[in-house]
Amino acid sequence: MKPVLAVTFYDTKPYDQKAFLDAAVGEQGIKGHFYDFRLSAETAASAAGCEAVCVFVNDRVDAACVEVLAGLGVRLIALRCAGFNNVDLAAAKAHGIAVVRVPAYSPHAVAEHTVALLLTLNRQIHRAYNRVRDLNFSLHGLVGFDVFGKTVGIIGTGKIGQVAAEVFCGFGVRLLGYDPFPKPEWAASCGLQYVSLDELLAASDIVSLHLPLTPQSKYLINEQTVSRMKRGAILINTSRGKLIDTTAVIDALKTGHLGGVALDVYEEEEGIFFEDHSGRPLQDDELSRLLTFPNVLITSHQAFLTHEALAQIASTTLDNLQRLRNGETWKEGSLL
Ligand code: NAI
Repeated sequence: MKPVLAVTFYDTKPYDQKAFLDAAVGEQGIKGHFYDFRLSAETAASAAGCEAVCVFVNDRVDAACVEVLAGLGVRLIALRCAGFNNVDLAAAKAHGIAVVRVPAYSPHAVAEHTVALLLTLNRQIHRAYNRVRDLNFSLHGLVGFDVFGKTVGIIGTGKIGQVAAEVFCGFGVRLLGYDPFPKPEWAASCGLQYVSLDELLAASDIVSLHLPLTPQSKYLINEQTVSRMKRGAILINTSRGKLIDTTAVIDALKTGHLGGVALDVYEEEEGIFFEDHSGRPLQDDELSRLLTFPNVLITSHQAFLTHEALAQIASTTLDNLQRLRNGETWKEGSLL
């Protein structure tokens, strides 16, 4: 019988633990230790006795952390998310630690949240909800626009960008796309036209980000690119916070150049998102400023949070861990 594989799960919440327990983590020869704190160089010693660690978007798996993990005999870093910008892949490779992730899990979850953000922001549902509960039935200041007939620019037409485009297609919009690796056949099927980034920014009423965070894409939305956007345009980011230079976006909101911003991610979200900070002063001044704009809507990195996505994340992660338990040397499928 194969030995039991010990795995430390970091930054877990009750819904994560439930998804893994529902996927029968214990019955698959995997002994999970669930921690609510994040993995970093400072906390990595807690992985002692484990061959694998399982991390999420805000665990900081930098070179110093990887070195501690390697010293403890950890052989696998399993991300239970798609993005891997928080892991030092070169350091992991140098220490012979494989890195795996969940490349695809319900792109519908994120795409549908994107559309939910747009509709909520545009039709001011968040404000209307509070107003009506306060018995204020006035419509003052709640005027939105028809999405029908508008131009929607999708930056990054991978799995999530494609589903988002297909959903937007149902509204009767003109679809523009920008991606260094265009998919012409798919684009033809939903009437999306690929254009340059500048053309997309200049022509779109709504711009939605669906690209990964890489050194090249950091601050894709900055002072210059924001200034090329249409006056009054709406910007939506459900991908990664650092795709946007927050200072530039705040400036554009103050002048009215941006008509609205919907964010599920924020560049300094680590340590803030996923936690209850009510009752304490918010220390992040830019996030505080963003929260003062009536035309800014922020959710706390919840686009992935559907039953279906959580089940797929747990299932793929357990498959990844099982492969380690089966003694695979891990070339194919690893990010190394
Ligand atoms: P994917 O890998 O299927 O697609 C990404 C697309 O972006 C590819 O077509 C790629 O060619 C394109 N791309 C790369 N660099 C680009 C650039 N500089 N400009 C324009 N396009 C570029 O990834 P998927 O599954 O669609 O996910 C996209 C992102 O969504 C992830 O990287 C992750 O950061 C984010 N995400 C957010 C979640 C949330 O809960 N808010 C959940 C899951 C993913």
